Formats: sequence, structure tokens, C-alpha cells
Amino acid sequence: MADFSELKGKLEGIRNDVMNELKEIRNARAVYEYRKGVFDAKGGKIGSLMREMGKIAAEDRAEYGKMVNELKDWATARIDELNTRLQEEEMNLRYKSEAIDVTEPAKVREPGALHPTTQVINQIVDIFAAMGFEIFEGTEIENDYYNFTALNTPQDHPARDMQDTFYLSPEFLLRTQTSAGQIHVMEAKKPPIKILSPGKVFRSDDDATHSPMFTQMEGLVVDKGITLGDLKGMLDELVKQMFGDGVTTRLRPSYFPFTEPSVEVDVSCFQCGGKGCRLCKGTGWIEVLGAGIVNRKVLQGCGIDPEEYSGFAFGVGLERIAMLKYGYNNIKLLFESDLRVLKQIND
Ligand code: DAH
Repeated sequence: MADFSELKGKLEGIRNDVMNELKEIRNARAVYEYRKGVFDAKGGKIGSLMREMGKIAAEDRAEYGKMVNELKDWATARIDELNTRLQEEEMNLRYKSEAIDVTEPAKVREPGALHPTTQVINQIVDIFAAMGFEIFEGTEIENDYYNFTALNTPQDHPARDMQDTFYLSPEFLLRTQTSAGQIHVMEAKKPPIKILSPGKVFRSDDDATHSPMFTQMEGLVVDKGITLGDLKGMLDELVKQMFGDGVTTRLRPSYFPFTEPSVEVDVSCFQCGGKGCRLCKGTGWIEVLGAGIVNRKVLQGCGIDPEEYSGFAFGVGLERIAMLKYGYNNIKLLFESDLRVLKQIND
């Protein structure tokens, strides 16, 4: 039989051990592990104490049981206490680290905007789409035939000098005008034809108002009985919607090999209303695009009978429109992507 006073001393020792061990515990997870270990019925310091019962004299057993239960209650209370304290500390740390300062100023997200040239493309496309036009997007690399020859500008034609061309080979070049798309469309489709063709074009030209790459929009209408009057009617509608009510156009004689007659189209100055200002250089008019009645030779070359059909075409430089509309005086500003400049416009 075990000596009862020895057992009592053992229990006292366990109490001290537990007290010291609890002092070393730093987090709630470790408290959980410790509790499991100490109360384990097989190997636990406290959990296994009841197994000693058999070794104790019958008259001491009630007393021993009471002492073990007291020790259990005491340890449970200490462990609970420590657990509560550590859990609280851990929560506080978490609250602190996850705290949100609701008084901090919000991060500003700058909304993006479309490039001025893209905005002009979209505006023109919207206006003409409402009139039933379709979009044809050609290719930036063209051959000589589509860019020049089929547009009534054969190899030795003086009008070739109007556009300084980047040649890739004797046959291939970077298109100098979206007019090349007219030929592709007329070859592929019989009238009625109503297309718009926006795209990049390239010319060896570089100053404040010219860039080696710029954007054009071509328009082409072919049907029975099309006249310059139809062209003027559509352009008047275009400029009214682009620049405002009361803005109109005038046509001046010009020359392009692929149109006959050819015209230069001026828009009445939308800044001064035609009285004369710096924008229109005192004339009341601003030149905006080239146009004309499609040359019979061009129609014929595409297999369209000029006796039956006629058409008009126009080509407009979109950076020029963007510059006029948004008040840029240097085309380079449109290509430099300087946000301070681009931010100033947003239609
Ligand atoms: N392609 C001409 C240019 O780049 C512009 C042009 C003029 C296009 C008259 C046309 C047109 O369709 O009819 O200078």
C-alpha cells in the first residue's frame, strides 16, 4: 500500500509543477495542448491519478478521491483563467492588426478615357451608322495597285507626289490613304454601297501639323443617281452633329485623281460662327476634308458600270478634326500620351 502522506506530498508537487508549467505557456493553442496532456487518463499528471486508487488503503480512499478532485478543480480553474487571458490578448492583437482607419482619405481611382482620336472615330461612326453605313477596316500594308493604280494614279502619274510613300518593296507599301479600301469594297460588293473605313495611314511627312502616322476615315457611297448634293447633305449633317447646330459646309473645286469633280470641303467656323477669328484665320471657314464624285475610271476598274451607277467619296484626317475640336495646335500632342494634355478633354 502506498503511503498516504507520501501521496499527499506527490499531489502537492503536481500542483507546484502545474503552476510553474502554466507560467511558461504563451498562447491559447499551447493551453489547449497542455490541458489535453495533463488530464489524459493514461499518462496525464492529473488524469492518471485515479488509477492509483487501488494502491491506497480502503480507509484513505475517500480522502484521496476528494484531494484529487480538488486538484483537478484547481487546475481546471487555473487553466481556464490562463486560456481566457491569452485568448483575449490574441483577439486584441488581431483587432489591432486588422483595424481599419475609417477617417483615412479614400484612394482616388482615376477613370480612364478614350483617346481623342478614338473619340472622334466613334462620333463619326455613330453619326453615319445611323444613316445605314457599314464599317470596312482595310489593312495597313497595301500593294501599289490598291493604294494608287486602281485609284487612277498609275506609276508615272504626277499626283503620286502628293503623298510621300513608305515603300516596303517595289510592290508593297504602307497605305498612304484609306481610299485603298474603296477598291477592296467595290471589288467585293455590288451597289448599293455605303461604307466608312477608319484606319491608320502613313506618309513621310513630319512637322507641327503632320505626322508620319495619322488616322483617316474614308466614306464611300455608290448607288443609282448619287450626286454632289447627296455628299453635301450628309456632310452638313455630320458637321452639325460634330460641331453644333448652325455649322455648315461649303465645297471648293479641287483635284484628286480618283474623283471627278473633286472638292475640298470647308466647315463654317464653329468658334466664331463665321465672323472670322484666329482658328479660321479670319476667313470664317476651316478646311476639313477632301471629297468628290467617284471617277468613272475607278468604278469601271472595279467592274461597276458608270452608266448605271455613280458615287461619292470623302476622306478626312481625324487628328485634324480632334485638334480643331479640342483646341490642340500641335499634332504631336495627340501621340505623346501626356496625361495632363489628354485629361483636358473628355466628351
Ligand atoms: N485620299 C485623300 C487624301 O488622303 C483624301 C480624299 C479626297 C479621299 C477625296 C476621298 C476623296 O475619298 O474623294 O488626301
